[in-house]
Amino acid sequence: MNQENQFQNKVIIDKEVAWDKSRVIMSKTNAFGIIEYANEVFVDVCGYEDYELMGQPHNIIRHPDMPKVIFKVLWENLKNGKNFHAIVKNLAKSGRYYWVITDFDIARDENDVIVNYFARRQAVPQEVIAVHIEPLYKKLLQIEAASGVEFSEKYLIGFLEEKKRTYVEYIKELIFEHEKSQAKFSNYAEDEGEEEEEHRGFFSRLFGR
Ligand SMILES: Cc1cc2nc3c(=O)[nH]c(=O)nc-3n(C[C@H](O)[C@H](O)[C@H](O)COP(=O)(O)O)c2cc1C
Repeated sequence: MNQENQFQNKVIIDKEVAWDKSRVIMSKTNAFGIIEYANEVFVDVCGYEDYELMGQPHNIIRHPDMPKVIFKVLWENLKNGKNFHAIVKNLAKSGRYYWVITDFDIARDENDVIVNYFARRQAVPQEVIAVHIEPLYKKLLQIEAASGVEFSEKYLIGFLEEKKRTYVEYIKELIFEHEKSQAKFSNYAEDEGEEEEEHRGFFSRLFGR
């Protein structure tokens, strides 16, 4: 079913973009989130041309299904010079969506003032989205519609307190647990120490670190 996105006047199509999920979607912005560079994968997946992206705020690909609170926490971290990982549903020019997990780098000038942000994104396993992220984001969105972001933030804090995780720890764990379940038939090491090794391994595989 299609619906109008009131904010950007775009058609929303409830279908995923078909894209090569082994690729890394990259962009660079200034300190205010204005796009200064996007790689070929970014252009291919979102469907905008380079010239349509340059100079635009990054919310050009914001999907209305994304709760505001996730971007609030994202910006609080970035402005404080902290990397952040977020699972984000993005909106392609066609109206279709694509889910990604982000990783950021922060560039500063000689006075230590933040001048650029770099974002790298990869695909998120469908099961993680369907089982964990979509239900959580839906709830946050409903709370925002009813009572505002102040209360979606309170809900998110309560949800994470119950799990004894930060948001970043929570999403990393979801992906790690998914990987582990996928790998269980392929000689997966159960040992705790090796588990930690495998956890780091995933993120270096994901973001090349
Ligand atoms: C480097 C960088 C990359 C970003 N990437 C995305 C993205 O892929 N999708 C997205 O919706 N917002 C992204 N954002 C956040 C947007 O700037 C913006 O906060 C978000 O789209 C929500 O829009 P709003 O702040 O107008 O509500 C990014 C911000 C930065 C600094």
